[in-house]
Amino acid sequence: MFAARVRPVSRRLTILAFAVIAAACGNRSAPAPAAAPAPAAAVAPAAAKSFYAQRFSRRASVPEMTELGRQLFSDPQLSAAGNMSCATCHDPRFAYAPPNDRSTQLGGPGLDTAGLRAVPSLRYLQTLPPFSEHHFDEAVDESVDQGPTGGHGWDGRADTTHDQARLPLTSKLEMANPDVDSVVARVARSPLGDRFRVAFGEDVFADPTRGSTALLLCLEVFQQSPKDFYPYSSRYDAYLRGKGQLTPAEQRGLALFNDPHKGNCASCHPSQVRHGAFPNFTDFGFNAVGVPRNRKLPADADATFYDLGLCGPLRADLRSHKEYCGFFRVPSLRNVAVRRAFFHNGVFHRLDQVLEFYVERDTRPEKWYAKAGGRIDAYDDLPVAYRKNLNRDPPFGGKPGTAPALNKSEIRDVVAFLKTLTDADLPQ
Ligand code: HEC
Ligand code: HEC
Repeated sequence: MFAARVRPVSRRLTILAFAVIAAACGNRSAPAPAAAPAPAAAVAPAAAKSFYAQRFSRRASVPEMTELGRQLFSDPQLSAAGNMSCATCHDPRFAYAPPNDRSTQLGGPGLDTAGLRAVPSLRYLQTLPPFSEHHFDEAVDESVDQGPTGGHGWDGRADTTHDQARLPLTSKLEMANPDVDSVVARVARSPLGDRFRVAFGEDVFADPTRGSTALLLCLEVFQQSPKDFYPYSSRYDAYLRGKGQLTPAEQRGLALFNDPHKGNCASCHPSQVRHGAFPNFTDFGFNAVGVPRNRKLPADADATFYDLGLCGPLRADLRSHKEYCGFFRVPSLRNVAVRRAFFHNGVFHRLDQVLEFYVERDTRPEKWYAKAGGRIDAYDDLPVAYRKNLNRDPPFGGKPGTAPALNKSEIRDVVAFLKTLTDADLPQ
């Protein structure tokens, strides 16, 4: 009954959302267990079925669940110490990304433990497919295997059982609860608990499973709210609708962004309307771009530690796939101008710096990488054996000392264009 009502909203997204809360936020302290490469397809329906088999005595409506989810999302009661909510890291005023320029955010009971990865924006994830090693996209060319695609988190390590949904709440690096039941019990005692009783029935907290199901369901339904999570209200959207202009600099930036011999950005961050769908500036694929090691992260103080993305160590199921080492999911560039930490390890803090890195990675490696034994250790966050995995198409490539794919004024134009991707409700 209840499941039948929820599924039409978006069954696929619903299943994914557990994966999200499950795998995505759980930082280093909660590695995903080994699983088949494409668990979403194989495991999700059964796991989701038992999750949705949960009966509530009242059917909550989507608007009711959205509003409860909104409250929960910003409710510090969700953390053990009462000092952190989802919104602490995923701030609605910054496109559900962090409000500050820290490379990674602080969590744990004392809000003093630095995470391993930069916090992503939660906007424009509504079309994110479940993780798959082999992706065929009929909009590009149905016969071409696009390789690993999708899944939540920088390494796509979406796991699909709803039990895993407990991880961000229980991760020691994040909200640090001993278990989800204690979170449910706190909510049940609070004024918000009464609103859950109105929406789902008096007995919603009668057993902990039903209580946690209600909480997690509201969080995910909220994250599917179009007005909050995919408003398509940027100046570029107005331009695509034929209702707004771009300045000459922004237009030049767009052309450079699309040009395969210049920025070539659109090859991974698509910018065009396809089949009537507005672009999300990501193909949800994975690439190794060779981001410099962020020596300010506590985890990186250990010289033997490498965050290799798709091949682990956070995600365990693809560890034997050395060809994936260094691969991270292509992030959306919508609202990228409101971010102040870039790439999976948050190593850069300005957009022009990101652009300079792209075009100078191979032409001026000495500017970007540390020295080891008196020599430049180019691509220093990727062990030598995996450096063949690096993408070398434009804007990368070129021999050291040769001209970069974009010059300074071209970089300014691309940055001007990226600023047109900021939604109307955010600081412009
Ligand atoms: C301490 C900071 C922190 C808190 C608090 C936090 N998150 Fe996250 N979140 C992260 C980080 C870091 C990632 C990326 C993790 C990775 O890639 O390994 C992430 C990833 C995600 C993603 C996946 C996004 C994507 O691009 O695939 C979702 C969805 C998400 N979080 C939702 C939530 C929800 C819901 C809550 C509250 C229950 C929450 N987060 C609380 C830090 C946080
Ligand atoms: C080969 C695919 C590819 C190309 C080409 C590419 N990118 Fe990316 N981009 C990625 C991947 C993958 C990441 C994440 C890498 C990581 O964090 O390790 C990324 C990250 C970014 C980020 C950081 C966003 C964030 O939220 O941290 C920005 C900004 C960006 N790209 C802009 C561009 C621009 C502008 C161009 C063109 C000059 C471009 N990219 C070309 C794949 C690509």
